[in-house]
Amino acid sequence: MYILAMETSCDDTGAAVFADGTLLSNVNAGQLIHSEWGGVVPELASRAHQATLQKVVAKALGEAKVAKDQLGLVAYTQGPGLLGSLLVGQSFAKGLAMALDVPLLGVNHMQAHVMAHFIEAPMPKYPFLCLTVSGGHTQIVVVRAADDMETIGETRDDAAGEAFDKCGKILGLPYPAGPIIDARAQLGDASKYKLPKPAMEGLDFSFSGLKTAFLYMVQKMDDATKTAETNNLCASLQRTIVSALLEKVALAAEQTGIRQIAIAGGVSANSGLRQALREMAIMKGWETYAPSMAYCTDNAAMVGIAAYYMAQKGQRGHLADVPFVRNRPL
Ligand code: KG4
Ligand code: ZN
Repeated sequence: MYILAMETSCDDTGAAVFADGTLLSNVNAGQLIHSEWGGVVPELASRAHQATLQKVVAKALGEAKVAKDQLGLVAYTQGPGLLGSLLVGQSFAKGLAMALDVPLLGVNHMQAHVMAHFIEAPMPKYPFLCLTVSGGHTQIVVVRAADDMETIGETRDDAAGEAFDKCGKILGLPYPAGPIIDARAQLGDASKYKLPKPAMEGLDFSFSGLKTAFLYMVQKMDDATKTAETNNLCASLQRTIVSALLEKVALAAEQTGIRQIAIAGGVSANSGLRQALREMAIMKGWETYAPSMAYCTDNAAMVGIAAYYMAQKGQRGHLADVPFVRNRPL
């Protein structure tokens, strides 16, 4: 069966085509318009999805050499995300599914980030732990099967990606700052500045205190010092975020006895996190998994692979389905 999957939850317009569980094409159009505003502007995001989605879908179908009427399933991101952006994708999916008279399937974006591990080898075996770190969410998930996931830890305030982006804004870096901080951190000294490690009991995370501490630290610097120290500040910040994340993953591994550890979501592209995970894996005897870069940040391939496994379990969506903005239990 050919599956068309679409991703429009935030500021990436994506379409992917699968032949069952095999990815045939994956097209992604990022939205550059937001960088001049210092963050995603929801209304601009939905308008950009509207302007681009049809072209992105046509390109994905063309690259896959699949005609519309060969499709057997239309999948889309149902939530969580920005309401207007989700509505554009869902309306397009509903229209197409209705016109082609094929089933429709809404996918949870956070579940899709986890399922990105099944687009290509090496794939983790169940059960595994997945640290899902994106711009909007930070979760530790026990993954027992494609349709059996349990969130055992999550952020109480800012997400990890949000911490990168907001601290980047404090440094005057453009949005999204995560990848820039990653690059600048590689040129800096992580031990130069001491930032408070977030103190949160159990498996939950908190990053807003760290952001405030970073703000106060940078506010004390004059502009010349701030510029001269940017690499060191980025390195210190990144090291603090990464160790806060991995400390909780280690605790989760200890509590559950699970030694297969995966990372997913935009922040899983972070080179410091990937490196620290590899080092911790050697120490702890873990098997670790990190998706290829293209499947870390938002993309439609992860939506398609999630839909493939959901469809195999007989799951189908309905024309009456509505988007959900806040995350739902996985
Ligand atoms: O998963 P994603 O593409 O979108 C959401 O679902 O939110 O994640 C986007 C987030 C942004 O906060 C971005 O700054 C962060 O992922 N990000 C990174 C890196 N690449 C993307 N953060 C740190 N290091 C990176 N290399
Ligand atoms: Zn995402």
